[in-house]
Amino acid sequence: MRCLFVTIVILLSINTHVSPTAANLAVKRLPVQVQVPLPRAAYLSSAFYDESCPNLESIIHQKMSSWIKRDHTMAASIIRLHFHDCAVRGCDASVLLNHPGSERVAEASRTLRGFALIDEIKAEVERQCPKTVSCADILTAAARDATIMAGGPFWEVPFGRRDGRVSLAREAESVPQGHENITQLLRTFEGLGLTFVDMVVLSGSHTIGRCSCHAIKQRLYNFTGTGRADPSMNAIYVDRLKKQCKYDDSYVNLDFWTPRKFDTAFYRNLEKKMGLLSTDQLLHSDMRTSGVASLMGSQPELFDTQFAVSMVKLGNANVLIRKEGEIRTKCTAVNSY
Ligand code: HEM
Ligand SMILES: *[C@@H]1O[C@H](CO)[C@@H](O)[C@H](O)[C@H]1NC(C)=O
Ligand SMILES: *[C@@H]1O[C@H](CO)[C@@H](O)[C@H](O)[C@H]1NC(C)=O
Repeated sequence: MRCLFVTIVILLSINTHVSPTAANLAVKRLPVQVQVPLPRAAYLSSAFYDESCPNLESIIHQKMSSWIKRDHTMAASIIRLHFHDCAVRGCDASVLLNHPGSERVAEASRTLRGFALIDEIKAEVERQCPKTVSCADILTAAARDATIMAGGPFWEVPFGRRDGRVSLAREAESVPQGHENITQLLRTFEGLGLTFVDMVVLSGSHTIGRCSCHAIKQRLYNFTGTGRADPSMNAIYVDRLKKQCKYDDSYVNLDFWTPRKFDTAFYRNLEKKMGLLSTDQLLHSDMRTSGVASLMGSQPELFDTQFAVSMVKLGNANVLIRKEGEIRTKCTAVNSY
């Protein structure tokens, strides 16, 4: 309390000291107002649907909760679906469009799930608030709820995204698949306005969910054409995975120890050479990311706080606002009017 008081006093004194500078006066004297467009995310607000669809968050929460009770794997799948949406053309629900040649048909989208759940939420939202709420906003809030239901942190979701009208399969192939190097990953995240900290922290969502054996079989059997397993992987872990991966379409857990719990075991796995994806293991071994990875492994509360912050940033990535997009009436198709 006392500390807070002191901080406020300091802040106030800095402000009064700063305000009458020459720079400030110069701005006021400018003859024409300079147009500085705000970042798009500044047009989003957690109060966006307060009047137009006050029940929105409770509809989403109720549907998410009843699906996840029946099928707990849906939590991870919705979080991933949101990431794949934001990674291509920003968080604009382009991943939900279902037509020939759309992102959904890309090889990189093959194991995405949760479309039917989003459709069901959208149908109920349309019943209560017709033509009001974008699919991009629904998916973003669903990912937040999925995180909570898996045991992760809460955050306020800013709303006001619009839905895109374009979805191209070839663009979906640029979403990281698990065999990239850190430089490539950093570049991808940079394009979303995300830093190396966000990248390490958001990768922490691999503390829940599964991976198809197809995606890791190179790593188990023929790493970079050597005919062997990736040497950066624990040998006992490799043997176990080989036993679980009889078929390409079998699944293994991304977090070996606590696959259903949203915790920081993911980062501690990396210290034991038990990262399932080589990209995850690299977070631990690459100098640029290893510091943040070990910090997150040892500080669960810091991880929760930063995960919430980074998810808001992910959800703000390259969003469409106002006339840049539309409010789809069905998440699977652009409006025909
Ligand atoms: C850093 C780059 C990333 C790479 C290379 C990557 C790669 C992958 C791969 C290969 C899978 C398994 C897909 C399969 O079944 O074949 C997966 C699953 C998953 N990813 Fe990522 N991912 C990345 C970042 C993220 C981010 C930023 C999030 C969320 C914020 C995320 C959330 C998930 C979740 C929750 C799953 C489990 C999905 C399920 O169980 O259905 N990933 N990821
Ligand atoms: C990362 O991958 C890119 C593209 O394959 C390659 O050009 C680059 O040399 C790699 N960087 C490192 C540090 O391995
Ligand atoms: C391993 O990979 C190399 C190059 O990627 C390929 O030429 C070779 O046929 C593969 N071996 C097996 C057993 O799949």
